[in-house]
Amino acid sequence: DIPIITTVADLRVLRHQYARRNESVGFIPTMGYLHEGHLSLINQSLLSNDHTIVSIFVNPSQFAPGEDLDTYPRDLDHDVKVITEFVAAKFQGSSDKKVDAIFHPTVLQMYPSGFSMERSQQRGAFVEVLGVSEPLEGKTRPSFFRGVSTVVAKLLNATNPTVAYFGQKDIQQTVVLKTMVRDLLMDIELEIVPTVRNSSGLALSSRNAYLSPEILSQVTCIFRSMNTAYGKYSKSGVRDVSDLTETVSAEIRSTNANFKVDYISFNDPETLDYLTTIDPKKGAILSLAVYVPNSTETNETKT
Ligand code: PAJ
Repeated sequence: DIPIITTVADLRVLRHQYARRNESVGFIPTMGYLHEGHLSLINQSLLSNDHTIVSIFVNPSQFAPGEDLDTYPRDLDHDVKVITEFVAAKFQGSSDKKVDAIFHPTVLQMYPSGFSMERSQQRGAFVEVLGVSEPLEGKTRPSFFRGVSTVVAKLLNATNPTVAYFGQKDIQQTVVLKTMVRDLLMDIELEIVPTVRNSSGLALSSRNAYLSPEILSQVTCIFRSMNTAYGKYSKSGVRDVSDLTETVSAEIRSTNANFKVDYISFNDPETLDYLTTIDPKKGAILSLAVYVPNSTETNETKT
């Protein structure tokens, strides 16, 4: 079975063993409830490192008061089983291919000064990446990336990996973290892994568990709309962002009139500056967020 490590001290003992032998470590930070998206990151690490460590920690500082911190899906036994079965199926008989440890700390291990949801009550060290944390998701969730960069900095300090793996699905997160690693002079390589989607094109996500089967089948309009816009850009040569935005918007509207677009944006891949026209030499990131009715039909979930 995969050893579960719950303290930073124990993680360091393991890490120092590997360092003494000059062995590389791949690290995959997660919030658990693992699916094939996470497994694709783990797979990349297994292929290119001597050791692989996965963390499972639902990080309170990236949730705002009123968000889904308490209901975020958690199931450690399920996660251990998912990893074990994946590694067995993928690397049969190759006993050196394994996840060496799951780091599953308490909130107090990760926040030694204590943690409060109220920003005015918070104590201790936090990491802020200015600029790239502010557009897109940063607009509706102002402290989100402060929480992400803080916990990832802590996890990287605790694990000291050779390479850390992140999914392209959360593309702004990858830009924020690359900026953090560069600006704080952290000696770690970040590798970005392509988005894993289900057969109808929906990106796999732990939060998809909030959606009813009917909504789940409808939200495939998100991927479809991006592909339609991409076709207009690449085949018909459309460079105008308002034109491409309307293409995306029309596809969402015509799928379900109750879907409310939070944003549809085209941004510079490095600075995340908003674009009005796309320079084909630089390209652009197209991202969108849509509020959809969730399974109880009373609340809304952002997708
Ligand atoms: P979580 O949502 O659990 O995702 C963990 C990692 O898996 C992230 O790098 C995410 O981009 C990647 N991932 C999730 N779904 C994916 C998919 N369908 N295809 C490819 N990669 C996918 O992202 C977080 O956790 C947290 O913010 C974290 C970085 C752990 C900090 O708390």
